[in-house]
Amino acid sequence: METIILAAGKGTRMKSKLPKVLHKVCGKPMLQHVIDAAKAAGSSREVVVIGSGSEKVKEQISGVEFVLQAEQLGTGHAVLSAKENFKNSSGTLIVLCGDTPLVTGEMIKSFVTAHEQSKFPATVLTAEMPDATGYGRIIRENDGSFKKIVEHKDATEEEREIREVNTGIYCFDVQKLFDALPEVKNENAQGEYYLPDVLTILKKHGEKIGAVKADDFKLTLGINSRVQLAAAEAVLRQKKNFELMENGVTITDPGSTFIDAEVEIGQDTIIYPGTYIEGKTKIGEDCELGPNTRLTDMTVGNNVKIHFSYCHESEICDGVVMGPYVHIRPGSKISAKVKIGNFVEVKNSNIGEGSKLPHLQYIGDCDMGSGVNMGCGTITVNYDGKTKFRTKIGNDVFVGCNSNLVAPVTVEDGVYIAAGSTITENVPKNNLAIARARQVNKSGWKDKRD
Ligand code: UD1
Ligand code: MG
Repeated sequence: METIILAAGKGTRMKSKLPKVLHKVCGKPMLQHVIDAAKAAGSSREVVVIGSGSEKVKEQISGVEFVLQAEQLGTGHAVLSAKENFKNSSGTLIVLCGDTPLVTGEMIKSFVTAHEQSKFPATVLTAEMPDATGYGRIIRENDGSFKKIVEHKDATEEEREIREVNTGIYCFDVQKLFDALPEVKNENAQGEYYLPDVLTILKKHGEKIGAVKADDFKLTLGINSRVQLAAAEAVLRQKKNFELMENGVTITDPGSTFIDAEVEIGQDTIIYPGTYIEGKTKIGEDCELGPNTRLTDMTVGNNVKIHFSYCHESEICDGVVMGPYVHIRPGSKISAKVKIGNFVEVKNSNIGEGSKLPHLQYIGDCDMGSGVNMGCGTITVNYDGKTKFRTKIGNDVFVGCNSNLVAPVTVEDGVYIAAGSTITENVPKNNLAIARARQVNKSGWKDKRD
């Protein structure tokens, strides 16, 4: 069982600089959704036909073979461009379109089974659409068997009334498909070589054509515009939320919770409204996330609490309590049981176990040990206007409020830093560092001024 995915079209109706199939649904390009579904259905090989923006597609998609369709002359022509790739193939070829991101492996698998049981050389997957505008309509013979597909633009008023449509998903006997394809003509409203016409040609050769209806039309929705893109996003988002809830995650308001397709979340984690969990984020068990939190490409352990914060491309370990208003920037590791927030920014830094950054810190390019207490308003001064430098802080260090640690600088284990210090030199183990001007009190000063 092999698959061809058509993804060369311009996607004119998207009005975009990005190739249509790279537009994301729940954080994953449409084309990737289709490829993953084919693999899940048991396909052994996926050949993707690309054209418009092919370089961009190749950059973002891997694990498949690409064929270039230099000119987009229609879906039939797109399949024909891959003739060489399938010259040694036999058995079933699945045809999918790169713009139907809601297809599932399960649906494709049961469609392939129906096709193979029928022993017909070609089967089209159809769907009953509430609004069939734009789709090719399925015309059946009086006995209900397949007659032909008429594209919306070529259809008569009467044919446009039909709500059973071509989903753009087919199964073919691969060699019979490629034998018949050269007979497809482009005499139609769009001047294109239509793949659906190959079905009529096979029928004329005396072959039987299957037309199997999908149980759920929503899974076959094709995306041609941004409005349809948003509709697909809504369907997939709801599905993802329901899947997570069925696996033991609490989502207090699924309508205002946005979780990408690839995200994994452990049992008994609670997600509050206004929360976005994106990309390849992985979250452990018993966490409390949100409200109003955004996590992108994060690894989060168990028992973590994150409120009103934004964290990306970093790791947060077990038992961390974070927020409100924390920004964790890429390359950071927040070790177990750290307490962090209110109003704290951490960039490209390692924070050791149990350390506390409770109010108003900027920690950039810093390696901090465990059990450190950072006073309110403490800052690692990591940038001299040209170069970034690292700050090293040992274990069990106490940094007084409003202190600056000017990097590169090392503060060893057990050090105390007096509040208001600007530390520019290394501080040896267990020392107290005071680096501020001494206070002067001028007695009777007010009386003299008056
Ligand atoms: C197509 C079907 C229509 C069906 C609908 C389902 C044809 C002629 N029509 O219409 O019956 O109801 O899908 O969504 O097949 N593509 C290429 N090369 C080309 C043209 C298209 O690779 O030269 C790709 C596109 O990138 C897209 C897919 O084929 O992924 C379908 O093309 P699209 O233009 O979206 O066809 P529809 O008008 O949606
Ligand atoms: Mg389409």
